[in-house]
Amino acid sequence: MSQFADSEGSVLRALQAIQETFGYVPDEALDTVAEVCNVSRAEVYGVFTYYSDLRSTLPAPNVVRVCIAEACQASGSDSLVAAIRAELGLDVHAKSRSGETEIAPVFCLGNCALGPAALVNDRLLGRTTVAKIRAALGDPR
Ligand code: FES
Repeated sequence: MSQFADSEGSVLRALQAIQETFGYVPDEALDTVAEVCNVSRAEVYGVFTYYSDLRSTLPAPNVVRVCIAEACQASGSDSLVAAIRAELGLDVHAKSRSGETEIAPVFCLGNCALGPAALVNDRLLGRTTVAKIRAALGDPR
């Protein structure tokens, strides 16, 4: 952590390093980052909650990120989220009962022209349907 002391942008970089190491940012790490970066815990918490990629729990092995930003909303992301809920039984911000898959919202994947967009692990989807998500997850149904 000492590499992040007294350098510009250090809070975000420290949080990213922690997540890269542990897969998430444990709550107690916020205190450590505040101390090392010489800022308040509230400032660290503000950075932590601003960036949606930073997380406080371990991710499921499969993460489906559904874009809910404006362009994808205009292309049907609300309907996609409803279909995911109905057909996969998964809510946004929730893990499957098995813990294998989770759905997370995201604000723009840079695929706006092909909305609704989604990211299944590292695979970017456009004009996304539940069938495309199933296929990307390796689910043949
Ligand atoms: S708004 Fe959804 S990818 Fe840009």
